[in-house]
Amino acid sequence: MDNRAIGVLDSGIGGLTSAKVLEEILPREDIIYFGDSRRMPYGGRTRDEICEMSLQGAAFLESFDVKAILLACGTISTNAADALRAVFKTPFIGVVDAACAAAARATRAKKIGVIATPPSIASGVYERGLAGLDGDLTVITHGCTNFAEMVEQGHFRVGDELAEREVRRELRCFLGSGIDTLLLGCTHYPLLSEVIAQYLGSEIRQISAGVEAARALAAYLRQREMLADGEGAGRRLWYTSGDTHTFGHTADIFLGHHIVPVQKIL
Ligand code: DGL
Repeated sequence: MDNRAIGVLDSGIGGLTSAKVLEEILPREDIIYFGDSRRMPYGGRTRDEICEMSLQGAAFLESFDVKAILLACGTISTNAADALRAVFKTPFIGVVDAACAAAARATRAKKIGVIATPPSIASGVYERGLAGLDGDLTVITHGCTNFAEMVEQGHFRVGDELAEREVRRELRCFLGSGIDTLLLGCTHYPLLSEVIAQYLGSEIRQISAGVEAARALAAYLRQREMLADGEGAGRRLWYTSGDTHTFGHTADIFLGHHIVPVQKIL
């Protein structure tokens, strides 16, 4: 039993896709969330910059003596996880392993599409993860240049002209490709899920890296008897380096309840 909080780290609001699942399956756990919205998109940065900013974000969460940190960000998981583990003793759970496992389980055609930020795709981490699970898989990857920023700015709903145009532009390569599963390797992308389904078809199974990572974290804590006891308070602390109002507004919509207060940091 461990009543310390769980830390959740993302470059912005994408990690809410993980936080939502944590709230559902581990309601008694305390969660401390940090989204570095002011400095996002991490997907437009060099590996050194991603590592540097991830170290700062993790150090902030560490200052609360968290028991584990969920790297609820594909770009951090693929580019900075090793750097974080080299510096901090706290366990870090990234999104890659759980997402690859779920995608490999889901596909019948053995053909999987992977979309993520350009540095995540360039790292080859998703491809290696999938190949390691099943050598017979065909994997088509695509780095989406501005999905994360677009989502962060509130463009993600069906009917949003920009979101629909960008989805058509970026995902054209998957039309007729034969994939039956699409791994959303950036945690911002599930907010685009309906727009993606509208374009590619709802028969293509979408796997959310953020959702799978949250489940993996819950399993990790359970196996090690690190969950809070029955008296856990389910406290939440929400921090952003960006605009607190924007963060709070999107979080309210996405989580389905009002979060207060959002605090500004970094
Ligand atoms: N949520 C981040 C990810 O999963 C977005 C990265 C970005 O800031 O570009 O990759």
